[in-house]
Amino acid sequence: IRRIAISTGGGDAPGLNAVIRSVVLAATRLGWECFGIREGFNGILRPDRYPENGVFPLSKDQVRGISHLGGTILGTTNHGNPLRFVVTNSNGEQKEVDRGQDIIQHLRDREIDALICVGGDGTLTIANALHERGLAQGLRVIGVPKTIDNDLDKTYTTFGFDTAVAFATECIDRLHSTAESHQRIMVVEVMGRYAGWIALHAGMASTAHAILIPEIPYDLEKIAAKIEARAKAGRHYSIIVAAEGALPKEGQHHLEQAAGLGTVERLGGIGEQLARQLQQHTGKEARAVVLGHLLRGGSPTAFDRLAAMRFGAAAVRALQQGHSGIMVALDFPNVKYVNLAEVAGRMKGVPLDGDTLQTARDIGICLGD
Ligand code: F6P
Repeated sequence: IRRIAISTGGGDAPGLNAVIRSVVLAATRLGWECFGIREGFNGILRPDRYPENGVFPLSKDQVRGISHLGGTILGTTNHGNPLRFVVTNSNGEQKEVDRGQDIIQHLRDREIDALICVGGDGTLTIANALHERGLAQGLRVIGVPKTIDNDLDKTYTTFGFDTAVAFATECIDRLHSTAESHQRIMVVEVMGRYAGWIALHAGMASTAHAILIPEIPYDLEKIAAKIEARAKAGRHYSIIVAAEGALPKEGQHHLEQAAGLGTVERLGGIGEQLARQLQQHTGKEARAVVLGHLLRGGSPTAFDRLAAMRFGAAAVRALQQGHSGIMVALDFPNVKYVNLAEVAGRMKGVPLDGDTLQTARDIGICLGD
């Protein structure tokens, strides 16, 4: 290996910069040159956006002092998939084109031997396809898992999740005072399209009274009954934490819809809807708070910084050992390698038989079922 490139794709997550720094420092020590690709693969595929520097050299100096910063210095995108790149012809008609080979060719033309793709399910699926096609052309590919939602399979956790949970917990802690002083129902909507990890962990840590996650379709009557039981016991306020992908019993489970690539479907609105319905049902005043993208920002926690640094260095070690087509993963407490093919297209929901969910039930948290 002489030259490697790094790309960050999908929604940003605290810790991305720590991965980039770790990759650059570890690779530079081996005498390799590093390049950053801007905005997922748009640095290569969109010369209209990046006419000159879509793929640029990354030196140690450029990654100095970035580990504690949120976002990604490379930029990212969760729109589009290079394997189904949308082009518009002169008649204004759109069609999808597979541009995987353009990425491989561009990197090989610049004598780049390896690519590290940092991202979630969509990015890792693309990484696997680039590995399968690129190997014969001299390009090796390693994946690094990222998502605040923690919904990636084959890794104990992803960086970004701990930061999101810590911040959501602080926010919900702060909402207790208004809820209690005003005797209100506060519904807090958090991110989590397909999986309820953030809602469950932050809801439990902040002692919410009901937690709604996509894995357990909820029954509004059960939540209203919990609020009324609390009122009977003299506690005239309740905190409800809902993942944005939480659905009522009659709705379709989001994990069943999650197979597609790169389809970022906007959810949201569950918080407002629940607040309205619970106010009607219980006659109590209700308010909704949507934490949304606040959970993706800010400085990564020490846990996330360390996980990100370990992933970055492990990705470089994997290349040094001659691997391609693998993802670095956390097999707590160690880092391990898993095949990208085993991860691509697979989501990890909260296990219904896990002890965290059982703990929630044991201590009387309503899960809506
Ligand atoms: O990173 C995953 C996620 O945080 C989801 O929970 C959320 O639905 C989605 O990103 C929103 O992404 P954006 O608003 O950037 O399209």
